[in-house]
Amino acid sequence: MKTLTTKVAIIGAGPSGLLLGQLLAKQGIDNIIVERTSEEHVLGRIRAGILEQGFVDLLRESGCSQRLDDEGIVHHGFYISVEGRKTYIDIKNLTDGKVVTCYGQTEVTRDLMQARKDSQQMSFYSSPVTSIDNPEQGKATVYFEHQGEPYQIECDFIAGCDGFHGVSRPSIPTEIRTEYERVYPFGWLGLLADTPPVCDELIYCKHSRGFALASQRSETRSRYYLQVPNTEKVENWSDEKFWEELKRRLPEHEAQKLVTGPSLEKSIAPLRSFVCEPMQHNQLFLVGDSAHIVPPTGAKGLNLAASDVAALYQALTAYYSGQPREILNQYSEVCLRRIWNAERFSWWMTNMLHHFDGDQKFQRAFVEKMADSELEFYLQNEAGMKLIAEQYVGLPYEQIKPVPQPNASIDANIKQEKIKQ
Ligand code: APR
Ligand code: PHB
Repeated sequence: MKTLTTKVAIIGAGPSGLLLGQLLAKQGIDNIIVERTSEEHVLGRIRAGILEQGFVDLLRESGCSQRLDDEGIVHHGFYISVEGRKTYIDIKNLTDGKVVTCYGQTEVTRDLMQARKDSQQMSFYSSPVTSIDNPEQGKATVYFEHQGEPYQIECDFIAGCDGFHGVSRPSIPTEIRTEYERVYPFGWLGLLADTPPVCDELIYCKHSRGFALASQRSETRSRYYLQVPNTEKVENWSDEKFWEELKRRLPEHEAQKLVTGPSLEKSIAPLRSFVCEPMQHNQLFLVGDSAHIVPPTGAKGLNLAASDVAALYQALTAYYSGQPREILNQYSEVCLRRIWNAERFSWWMTNMLHHFDGDQKFQRAFVEKMADSELEFYLQNEAGMKLIAEQYVGLPYEQIKPVPQPNASIDANIKQEKIKQ
């Protein structure tokens, strides 16, 4: 068995692992990234593309924002269409100037991977982590395979950035972790095409045939989604069928000017809400999708991963600058406060905008009427739109607090008191 040593072993080279690795390396904190699949496979995954300002700032801090700064498209708002009637949520005006940036997650990952290659830090691809040893105190160990050979990494800490199906979360004993989950009865069928986007801002469409989203990657590349039952297969959807269905769900004006073309990618993603509490155990810290999943309706998945990374990066930097080990104890609570907020918003947006199919037709009809009425209520007054806008742009990141150091003069006073007694 080959043995390596480092300060932080990072499992997974998705956006969470790569961003954390890059930020730590900039602070001189050595780390090793171990990824199960190949670089090509990681870069082949098409995911969301709306970045909150907090994410953009963090990417700038990591030194990897050049292309985002050049090519990212700033969005000042988005539309919600209800059966073809559009309402503009003017996020910039409703939030005192906050905006979001449209830049694909795949491109973020590509930029971070390139920076990783240029750094002195080690990365292993096509190298599945098989298990971890996470003692109460002392060094932790990560075991993985690389080119048919067993390896181990001895480290101070493990960052579990290995997504929903990784090994990190299940390694936390079941009596310690609690999992909260909601699986929705539908998924999103996504299509990427080199066609000009139908609108310069995003359109979230509530429609009796099901939800649809018109998004984009650039002025020449579009990303569209359709709500489909979670039993649906991508093979059943020719490009023609997709474009036809999309036209039915888009507002009339956009449907007429929709430019269609061959798909570059087409896939179905199930919708799920999921949270694991706590997000830390001994020397292990869960980051991003390994600890929580949101349905994509609020565009929060990647942004939540980034706020976890920000908290862990801050806590580890403080620890390696001399703060006591307890500084790391705040990680889970700080992350979870923001996560539950985003879970609630994503769940709410999903409930408001989707068509729910289920067995109890009578009750479903009532619930749908309630959703219609609630959405209408929010869209008809500025306070409602402001609430949507504030949550869409993202809440501020909570700071990790320094651990109070024992104060020498207070200690001396206590001693004096004790002597007097
Ligand atoms: N060993 C090594 N790597 C692993 C293992 C393992 N046993 N199990 C999983 N991985 C890798 C996966 O192959 C994947 O590349 O961990 C990575 C996790 O990446 P993501 O799933 O992208 O998760 P994360 O980095 O937290 O990104 C969060 O990106 O995936 C989207 O919807 C998600 O937007 C959210 C954000
Ligand atoms: C995307 O562009 O892929 C996207 C945008 C907004 C969302 C979800 C996905 O809410």
